[in-house]
Amino acid sequence: EKGNYRHFMEKEIHDQPEGCQRTIAAYVDTLTAHTAIPGEVDWARLERVQIVACGTSYIAGLMGKYLIEQLADLPVDVEIASEFRYRQPALRKDALAIAMSQSGETADTLAALRFCQAKGMMTAAVVNAVESTMAREVDVVWPIHCGPEIGVASTKAFTAQVSVLTAVAVAAARARGRIDEAEEQRLVRVLLEAPRLIAESIKLEEAVRSIALDVSRARDVLYLGRGPMYPLALEGALKLKEISYIHAEGYAAGELKHGPIALVDEQTPIVILAPFDSYFEKSASNMQEVMARGGQVIFITDPEGERHAPAGARVVVTAPKCDPLIAPLVLSAPVQLLAYHVAVCKGADVDQPRNLAKSVTVE
Ligand code: F6R
Repeated sequence: EKGNYRHFMEKEIHDQPEGCQRTIAAYVDTLTAHTAIPGEVDWARLERVQIVACGTSYIAGLMGKYLIEQLADLPVDVEIASEFRYRQPALRKDALAIAMSQSGETADTLAALRFCQAKGMMTAAVVNAVESTMAREVDVVWPIHCGPEIGVASTKAFTAQVSVLTAVAVAAARARGRIDEAEEQRLVRVLLEAPRLIAESIKLEEAVRSIALDVSRARDVLYLGRGPMYPLALEGALKLKEISYIHAEGYAAGELKHGPIALVDEQTPIVILAPFDSYFEKSASNMQEVMARGGQVIFITDPEGERHAPAGARVVVTAPKCDPLIAPLVLSAPVQLLAYHVAVCKGADVDQPRNLAKSVTVE
């Protein structure tokens, strides 16, 4: 079932245009270009959203926070489920709890969800496994439609989860009067463009592979980003460490001076995620700071960002131009492909990384 691919992970990276397309189609009306989110959520009156999840699903949730707060002006808390369930979080009934989980069985996420239910909150779950425990127990199920994910390192589930939360952000923004109908339709059309642009972005595979051997010799790799590129930096670092066993850290680029810059030397690859958005100037100056200390910059950007990038990057990877709404989806592919090819260079067992399980049903 791997077809011509060496690993499920590689296949699943390539499955993403289709997985996102099927997922997005379930959350928008393609004819009228309106959002169509299943369930009776009263977005206009909702006071807050509480997202709980683990691992990559947590990072997808964090991406959701950036999207929902910016577009819909709706406060979103995102918390690692194992922390949330054991502290005494201050919850209110008028919040919607959203669990993010590919498997729908992760023990800590399930416990966090049940905790929210016990507090009388409405619950939703973004799951891949629609027969799972979480799907059975929540008020609203928001399935992703990317097909079963076999590789232990999550890829297509991540972009499908982000697709759902992007549609939710647009729907909430419209319901809360933050955008008008024309803007809703524009954003939905932008979202519908994502699968084609993800497919374009996957074509960067050769460019990414050409730097993989270099990166595979590193001891540490830093990933930096601002705004929605910050969660993607976290995801890049998580993916790299889990399959290649190279120590990697994702940081908000503005945190550079507050610690991680101490790690930078000539041997350190620094992946900077910076499309030409409102954060670009700041990210470009972070790039100069790390280059001044000998850091080897891998600059992942878009065509406009490439034109404005400071000279001196070790390599520039240029993803297709897109609306900022879908940049997290479009830039995910090169980030995942980098981790994948570095792991292949190291001869690692990409689909079955050591010590990891696909579904973590014990805490
Ligand atoms: C990382 C990865 C894990 C899972 C985490 C949550 O690539 O796959 O971090 O994201 O174990 O699993 P689910 O989404 O099934 O709750």
